[in-house]
Amino acid sequence: MSFLAAETGIAEQMAALGAQWVPAEPLSAHTSPGVGGPGDLVRLHDRRRLPELMEYFSRHGVSWRLLGGGTNLLIADEGLDDVVLQLMREPDGLKFEGNRVEVAAAANLGTTVTECAKHNLGGVAGLAGIPGTVGGALWMNAGAYGTQIADVVRTVTLYRGASGRVEVWRPEDARFEYRHSGFAADDVLLSVSLELPERPYAEVLEKIKECNQKRRASQPISEKSAGCIFKNPPGHSAGQMIDELGLKGTRVGGAVISERHANFIVNRDQATAADIFKLMDLIRERVRKAYQVELEEEVIVWRK
Ligand code: EPU
Repeated sequence: MSFLAAETGIAEQMAALGAQWVPAEPLSAHTSPGVGGPGDLVRLHDRRRLPELMEYFSRHGVSWRLLGGGTNLLIADEGLDDVVLQLMREPDGLKFEGNRVEVAAAANLGTTVTECAKHNLGGVAGLAGIPGTVGGALWMNAGAYGTQIADVVRTVTLYRGASGRVEVWRPEDARFEYRHSGFAADDVLLSVSLELPERPYAEVLEKIKECNQKRRASQPISEKSAGCIFKNPPGHSAGQMIDELGLKGTRVGGAVISERHANFIVNRDQATAADIFKLMDLIRERVRKAYQVELEEEVIVWRK
């Protein structure tokens, strides 16, 4: 529980800032692997009011974390003391202009790709099946099937923790790398402008279908997971290494190393975060021993 929970009239204070106070929320309900203890949620419905909310947080010494789609995130079972901030989806989430589109960070990535297709814009079909928000995809520089989101970014609009101001960045300012960006922990992405190649709807749709088919065949998309757990080390495939070690199907509690893709840990039977962490440790140790390779986490882990 955050110390804000003890503040009198906190719900009213948040409402005055355009936000909704949701105390002691089970965070497992907000992540795709379905694990995580309780935390106090603050939901902001209008991203233009973020600077005011940040000013309140800073005045009250509130530490916070930003929750996106929760699709690449493992939250520990003991929950969090930090306030969990969530930007909610807005009706004006997508604005098209020629071959450019301005997308709110809270927009769903898959929906965005499909909407772009309807406007005869391609270039991002590979991203269609990646669950989560556009902001989360940017933060991690999400990618699949030869496309990464950084390739089509024109500008990113963000609230900068360091300056307390809304800034517009060029892609080079964000220093995108493989599954990594250079945003600071106290930055909040608000929206992104994408520039996309013009392509007929039918062609883009075909590509989306192809990628989704490949994904269905090689990843456990119908089970609860946080996606790929480890980054691919240079010159290696994490999934292939784990598979070669015969670890598919290994279980700790309710968590299992997927039989379909070894770099996925699925929550099959009311797994706890601790179950998943144990499996991650086991994988890291076995890969270290067999390949002398140190696996780096791709998922984001939140602990108290
Ligand atoms: N492989 C195995 N066994 C497995 C899994 C994979 O032998 O259990 C082999 C495959 O046969 C293939 C190679 O490993 O030869 C690579 O596998 P795959 O094509 O599935 O790609 P990946 O490198 O494991 C990456 C991304 C995925 C993304 C796919 C498709 C990372 C860590 N993973 O997976 O991204 O969807 O390519 O482009 O970069 C994610 O980031 O969460 C994620 C799932």
